[in-house]
Amino acid sequence: MTIDPLEDPSAFWEEFYRTKRTTSTGRATAALQQIATGLTPGQALDLGASHGDDVIWLAQQGWQAHGCDISETAIARARARAAELGLESQAQFERCDLSVSFPHGRFDLITALYLQSPVALARATILGRAARQLRPGGHFLVLSHAAPPPWSPEETPPTIFPSLADELAAIGAPAPHLEVVRADIVTRPGRGPDGAEAMLEDNLVLVRGRSS
Ligand SMILES: C[S@@+](CC[C@H](N)C(=O)[O-])C[C@H]1O[C@@H](n2cnc3c(N)ncnc32)[C@H](O)[C@@H]1O
Repeated sequence: MTIDPLEDPSAFWEEFYRTKRTTSTGRATAALQQIATGLTPGQALDLGASHGDDVIWLAQQGWQAHGCDISETAIARARARAAELGLESQAQFERCDLSVSFPHGRFDLITALYLQSPVALARATILGRAARQLRPGGHFLVLSHAAPPPWSPEETPPTIFPSLADELAAIGAPAPHLEVVRADIVTRPGRGPDGAEAMLEDNLVLVRGRSS
């Protein structure tokens, strides 16, 4: 029986990593670098960690960082890169389908960086669950594409582009246990596959668990 990747998120993302995106960029997300630089390192969790660039960067800054992703291929590459850098104890990776299960533990920093998909992803449930895994004083950073880039092909089915209000509603913030530190649209320069340049808009939401 052939699996239709559009029906099966695991098959879709495996195909994506085996065929379309085969290498790590080696660079951490700029917004993460700006925000995490002001925080005291502790336990971090990255949701949809891809090749592990953000987790590895956090480990290099002194965090005990854990990444999870649905793609076994992406996870294998992330583990290999961490091992190459001698960071296998500080940067750990696990294959998991976040729509079905969630890593155990409480975290000082949780990140969901462009955790968006054109195939099934229980994103709002995942963000809500993540917010409940924050330690008091811990931060949850959600960064998402607010709109498709101008060079994006029309997808069937399309990726969902949330608003800031959608993100806050999914996280369940503000709430007595969750303070909203930032909720802004931010822009960054982007370059398409044919070299075209454009300013791209992202939603940036940062919440902090309140100490009770
Ligand atoms: C758009 S990519 C973003 C990757 C990376 N965070 C970044 O900023 O480049 C979305 C990632 O989410 C992962 N993903 C999609 N659905 C998932 C799920 N149900 N559970 C865990 N990871 C998932 C994909 O494999 C992919 O690596």
